[in-house]
Amino acid sequence: MSASQRTCGYAGSRASAGMCALRNPAVPRRLCFALALRHHLLSRISGKENIIPSVDITFAKPKTEPVKYDLSEITEVIRNRRTIYPEQFSTRKVQKDMVQHILTNALWAPTHGKTEPWRYVVYSGEGRNKLAEITEKLYREKTPEDQFSPAKLKKILGKIERSSVVIAMVCRRTPETRIPEIEEIEAAVCAAQNAMLTATAYGLGSFWSSPKFIYAEGAAEAFGFTSADKVLGYLYLGYPADEWPKSHRKPLEYITTWVED
Ligand SMILES: Cc1cc2nc3c(=O)[nH]c(=O)nc-3n(C[C@H](O)[C@H](O)[C@H](O)COP(=O)(O)O)c2cc1C
Repeated sequence: MSASQRTCGYAGSRASAGMCALRNPAVPRRLCFALALRHHLLSRISGKENIIPSVDITFAKPKTEPVKYDLSEITEVIRNRRTIYPEQFSTRKVQKDMVQHILTNALWAPTHGKTEPWRYVVYSGEGRNKLAEITEKLYREKTPEDQFSPAKLKKILGKIERSSVVIAMVCRRTPETRIPEIEEIEAAVCAAQNAMLTATAYGLGSFWSSPKFIYAEGAAEAFGFTSADKVLGYLYLGYPADEWPKSHRKPLEYITTWVED
């Protein structure tokens, strides 16, 4: 294996984030050493050798600027998409035309064989009561007795109540297709990301929720689909009541292998 094929690896790596970043010429050396020091201190404090901090590294811009679109804006939108929970939503309503724009962008996702497997049931206003009904029924029917929790059910129903719009995202299996099911799901997930990014551009937080019962047999039927279809989750949309939350990701070095020679 050549040097460029080696990665730091994530779990169990003894290399520090700083030393990993050091291999990337786009990362300033001072930042590398700061990361290495942070890693060293965290390891000392925790007594664990391999603790790896999650850090944001802003890579230098490529020398050749793409000119077709504003890359800085799309980068901002992608990096600032955030999960914001309904408990953190303000009472401001999400307008119908926004939801229409969000879902129209969703359906421009890639789709193998043009099966366009994404389907949405949008619950808003009084319609949320219908979703609450379906949710309660599914939770009661599909949750094993020893895991049933009235508090958990109440919490889920509370999320529906707090959001002005909740979208049930479904992957519709195209009948008699040569496309494997996983690819239909992958396409629908790409569409979900389009939706969440568009929501971000509108200043909306989104929360993709996947309570266990949505994967149970019969869940798709509860939303008017067939047993061949899959419920992927509920997408809650809302304006954040407080500041836009921050997040972080592991550095690129941990998740990338470059094979260059
Ligand atoms: C397929 C999928 C299912 C998810 N289901 C849940 C969930 O059931 N509960 C939850 O709290 N978050 C869920 N999330 C959201 C993640 O918790 C969230 O994306 C993660 O914490 C990272 O935060 P960020 O979205 O702000 O970057 C889900 C995300 C995905 C992609």
